[in-house]
Amino acid sequence: MTQDEPSPNPMPALGARRFLFVTGKGGVGKTTVCAALAMKLAARGQRVLIAMCNTKERLSAILGTRPIKDEIAEVSPNVWAVNISPERALEEYGGIVLKVRAITRAVFDNRYTKAFFRAVPGLYEWAILGKAWWHTTELLADGSNRFDVVLLDAPATGHGLDMLRVPKVILDVVPPGVLRRDAEAAWGMFRDPAQSGVLVVTLPEEMPATETIELVGAIRDELGLPVVGLVINGVLPALFSKVERDALLHDHGLLDVAAPRRTAGTGDSAIVAGARRAAREAVQAESLARLERSLDLPMVRLPFLFDEASTVAGTRILTAKL
Ligand SMILES: Nc1ncnc2c1ncn2[C@@H]1O[C@H](COP(=O)(O)OP(=O)(O)OP(=O)(O)O)[C@@H](O)[C@H]1O
Ligand SMILES: [Mg+2]
Repeated sequence: MTQDEPSPNPMPALGARRFLFVTGKGGVGKTTVCAALAMKLAARGQRVLIAMCNTKERLSAILGTRPIKDEIAEVSPNVWAVNISPERALEEYGGIVLKVRAITRAVFDNRYTKAFFRAVPGLYEWAILGKAWWHTTELLADGSNRFDVVLLDAPATGHGLDMLRVPKVILDVVPPGVLRRDAEAAWGMFRDPAQSGVLVVTLPEEMPATETIELVGAIRDELGLPVVGLVINGVLPALFSKVERDALLHDHGLLDVAAPRRTAGTGDSAIVAGARRAAREAVQAESLARLERSLDLPMVRLPFLFDEASTVAGTRILTAKL
């Protein structure tokens, strides 16, 4: 497949799933993709919850809404969002298990308990992942789902994998009880490709492409979880053909760090700018080809946004491409 031939669009199948775990290298556009995908599904009439992992959230800027806190709030028709606080999630969970509010308070407000929780490996990850999953089980009074789809705007690569490892660890080490029962139900959903999947986001660049291929391998082989698709974000339109690129890249002087200054104000500055763009396009073409060759996944490409990045208008452009 060449740079100009987009892959088949995988998105129609995504909305059929109840839970999507969106991950990828830091800064590749996970939050941006969650926003665009939520708008897409919401426009089809699905009720979508975007759950964030206790992060300095930028989703509200992308969607043009009020800041998103640890309380679920509707941010757009059919789209809700929450920035999950693990402490609060644990307290809510404890409240369900312990039933009596005063006891819950006594347990969770206690500074020794807090220190203890912080020291239990994976507990905070589970508090976030478990809460996000739990929202797929909530029903409205009429028996319909409170949310049709939960999109978890998950942590970047390594931390995202750590988070996904936790339910399995709970199943392996925790004795039967409420915690184990929920982890079992969540793990059952996460492993079922009809109900759930991991959506990986990447950029058409060398390192992100390499990390993505490794990440997909780890999710599938180590965790045995379905990867439902790959979003290649920030794809530049190809201005040059391969022949033109090669011609521009042939003269290494054009890519020299000093070249822009040396040619400033002269006719050659356009050629230097062209060579730089050609170099970027060459890396992009190589990365796209490598991703397509290495991964047997539905892929969708999203365009690089120049002025509209992180804006409502930009989100609309990306939504239309999904
Ligand atoms: N298609 C795009 N074109 C141009 N800029 C983009 C695009 N998608 C995202 N960006 C920009 O890239 C930056 C990172 O995007 P975003 O916050 O969605 O990434 P992230 O993967 O969620 O990051 P983090 O790992 O920090 O959570 C933002 O400044 C955003 O505006
Ligand atoms: Mg993010």
